Amino acid sequence: MNDLIPLVNKLQDVFNTIGSDQIDLPQIVVVGSQSSGKSSVLETIVQKDFLPRGNGIVTRRPLVLQLVNTHIGTLPTSETVGTDVPDRAEFLHLPHKQFFDFDDVRREIEAETARVAGQKKAISRTPIHLKIYSKNVLNLTLVDLPGVTKPTDIEKQTRNLILDYITKPNSVILAVSPANVDLANSDSLKLARQVDPEAKRTIGVLTKLDLMDAGTNSLDILTGRAYPLKLGFIGVVNRSQADIVANKPMADAFQSETDFFQGHPAYRAISHRCGTHFLSKTLNSILMSHIRDKLPDIKAKINSQIGQTQQELSSYGDPTFTGQAHRATIILQLLTKFATEFVAAIDGKSADIST
Ligand code: GDP
Ligand code: NA
Ligand code: MG
Repeated sequence: MNDLIPLVNKLQDVFNTIGSDQIDLPQIVVVGSQSSGKSSVLETIVQKDFLPRGNGIVTRRPLVLQLVNTHIGTLPTSETVGTDVPDRAEFLHLPHKQFFDFDDVRREIEAETARVAGQKKAISRTPIHLKIYSKNVLNLTLVDLPGVTKPTDIEKQTRNLILDYITKPNSVILAVSPANVDLANSDSLKLARQVDPEAKRTIGVLTKLDLMDAGTNSLDILTGRAYPLKLGFIGVVNRSQADIVANKPMADAFQSETDFFQGHPAYRAISHRCGTHFLSKTLNSILMSHIRDKLPDIKAKINSQIGQTQQELSSYGDPTFTGQAHRATIILQLLTKFATEFVAAIDGKSADIST
């Protein structure tokens, strides 16, 4: 997502400077059957290893994950210049504690899950709120949900919980399906269809391509012939349980995934449209087109602020540079420069999106 980060950060800096509301970015909700690879996909998007994973019902409470970018703003102060902020995490239920070790974050999620949902298989609707502060993320909300299970007493409860999250029109549904199970039986796609019948805000993610039977492949799904979704399907290969046990680093897993697609006879030709990196880029485009939709509103906010600042400046009369007049002049220059850069960048990006 790296190319969008500086742009959205600048936008948010400007909104902070003018004291205006931030733009509301979509929430990305990860949906799928139990053990389909939801948490694994989420971790690769965040580029951090911090979620409880494994077989069985591991995610038993919604995890509302707010990513906060710690990039230093366009108006550096004496305190922020040259500082290097380490990535950290905070839980809403532990307001005064900061986590710097992401293994501790995982342990806290496990403990907090057990505290509210019990030690057994029960699920709870009460979300865990986690904030991750990092230089490498966009300000964005991701939601990890309990997986759809085989018909049991908690099945209906889980479905209703998922439906609550994906019904929101601002939600982008990341519908995860494992490639080693028939797509016709995909719980995530069945659920997504209920709330997004035209498949406009559902993006299909096909996991476990490495676990398909020898001689079979998912090319018809990945090329959009098997199941139509406007945002398409993206194949990924996450770390296996053995990789997790062996503590395989994220970077190595990423390289194995790239090698898998480039070396596979069926996927080689579409390997540039497969994998975690492409998934992140696609989410980037989705965010970008969302921002583009909000562009008239953003432009209006900036223009009204330019007008106000100009007025403020003229009220000071003569260009006798008082502190206030000086500040207003700087803000005005910043806004005007940003407005030009921002519109140019968005116009450049829109061309990319439509191709
Ligand atoms: P969730 O229940 O949907 O959140 O699924 P997890 O992300 O916890 O994954 C369930 C299990 O499947 C874990 O043991 C993962 O290591 C494994 N897994 C997930 N994705 C893949 C994949 O693409 N390939 C392989 N081989 N294993 C995967
Ligand atoms: Na599924
Ligand atoms: Mg999970």
